[in-house]
Amino acid sequence: MEFNWTLALISSISVLFLLLLRWKQNQNGGKRQPPAPPGWPIFGNLFNLGAMPHRTVAGLATKYGPVITLKLGSVNTVAILSAKAATEFFKNHDLTFMERTITETSKSHGYDKSSLALAPYGMYWRVLRKICTVEMLVAKRINESSAVRRRCVNDMLTWIEKEADLAKTGAGVHVAKFVFLASFNLLGNLMLSRDLAGPESKLGSEFFTAMIGLMEWGGHPNISDLYPWLKRFDLQGLKRKMDRDVGKAIEIAKEWVEERVEERRKEARHGGERRKDFLDVLLDYEGTGKDEPEKMSERDITIFILEIFLAGSETTSSTVEWALSELLRCPDKMVRAKKELNSVIGPNNKLEESFIDDLPYLQVIIKETLRLHAPIPFLVPRKAAHDTEFMGYHIPKDTQLFVNAWAIGRDPECWDNPNSFEPERFLDSKVDYRGQHFELIPFGAGRRMCVGVPLAHRILHLTLGSLLHEFDWEFENGVKGETLDMKDKMGIVVRKLEPLKAIPKKL
Ligand code: HEM
Repeated sequence: MEFNWTLALISSISVLFLLLLRWKQNQNGGKRQPPAPPGWPIFGNLFNLGAMPHRTVAGLATKYGPVITLKLGSVNTVAILSAKAATEFFKNHDLTFMERTITETSKSHGYDKSSLALAPYGMYWRVLRKICTVEMLVAKRINESSAVRRRCVNDMLTWIEKEADLAKTGAGVHVAKFVFLASFNLLGNLMLSRDLAGPESKLGSEFFTAMIGLMEWGGHPNISDLYPWLKRFDLQGLKRKMDRDVGKAIEIAKEWVEERVEERRKEARHGGERRKDFLDVLLDYEGTGKDEPEKMSERDITIFILEIFLAGSETTSSTVEWALSELLRCPDKMVRAKKELNSVIGPNNKLEESFIDDLPYLQVIIKETLRLHAPIPFLVPRKAAHDTEFMGYHIPKDTQLFVNAWAIGRDPECWDNPNSFEPERFLDSKVDYRGQHFELIPFGAGRRMCVGVPLAHRILHLTLGSLLHEFDWEFENGVKGETLDMKDKMGIVVRKLEPLKAIPKKL
């Protein structure tokens, strides 16, 4: 019998592989890691992910259970895929996973060093988080700025109306574009008391363009993150592009901060009354200097400004776009929402934020939209600070952790008809998205939950409610509910692959 060299080689590699696996298990004290779908040498499970990883990873739960391991290039990753596992995670393991994974692009110009979302769990994070939750995003200060938000939404309605007048008969308006511009201006006014997305401000539009780039490059999967030894080659050029755009955005924001510092000096000398914005809060900050800084540096303030735009503009505009798309597909729900708005506000009045509590159907539409379309489906990835045990599995230090909020929002153990848009399911339910109900976590949960929830809550209801109250909406020519493309695409935020184009009819 002839000796088969190929067979011998394959057998030897398999034995070596098994020995390596056994050695690795022994290193972990023989403890099991969460089950993993089979992967490829070097690439691991990269090919399992596809173009919409939140969906494909969610699908793996059927075969491998609610906690799985994925090898992404050289990065060991664990994904949580059910509400039960998320409950255990946030209740008992939040503290172990307080650190974030830092991507290569987020290191541009030291962004990660001053960012709240990426800061290590420590003094800097605590101080910034406290400023946000105690000073900026509290009901009193948010209430003070409601007129600014109303003005930005009015501008948006005017832009949409103009665009509709210019459009050819039967052509729709790119709704999300205007919602994005309005969110951007709204955040610009809260932070800096400026309109940034509009023809009036040249610097504002340069900042806007740089921020769009930042979102684009930051949302791209980057080979350098999967194989850190390749990072110096920057094979996709993402770091270079990010350096350019973050550099530009920092340069402009820095100029605004310096201008304000000068303005405040003058005010201190000559007096003057002005509504305080978030930038004033940051400049006013005074720490003890012992376990916290005495002042915030201008650099940290500048990066914080970029962070708020990154965190708040695309998330809110994508949610409103999904909500309107779902409602267009369900005309009876659209009619019910409009009836509610009409009866609470009256046909000739504008929606004010003070009405939100009296609009239960609008509220459940937003909840249901966030359940089905969590804008950040894996939340912001966490990292294990040390070796730990989770639901009987061993998770080694530095493992990256994804909580798949998209999968959890569709967990069949929690939700009837999980894939259909049924806002009514929330009408007699106490479940909400403020981090106490782990089956609905579009804003995350635990200590690193989104700080922007109180503001996002207002923006989402005000914007969607106004769009519904001011216009009747129709599909553009040739599109029907059944044929509307509802596929999504991954970036920093998941949004509709095909932007919604719809026709607004002024009432
Ligand atoms: C629909 C709107 C929004 C959604 C869905 C959303 C979602 C999220 C998610 C999933 C996280 C990570 C939570 C975790 O790791 O558990 C997060 C973090 C964060 N969000 Fe939001 N967000 C929204 C709007 C906003 C707004 C308007 C702001 C600012 C005003 C904001 C500021 C932040 C910040 C600063 C963090 C980092 C918190 C930390 O790491 O301690 N977000 N957000």
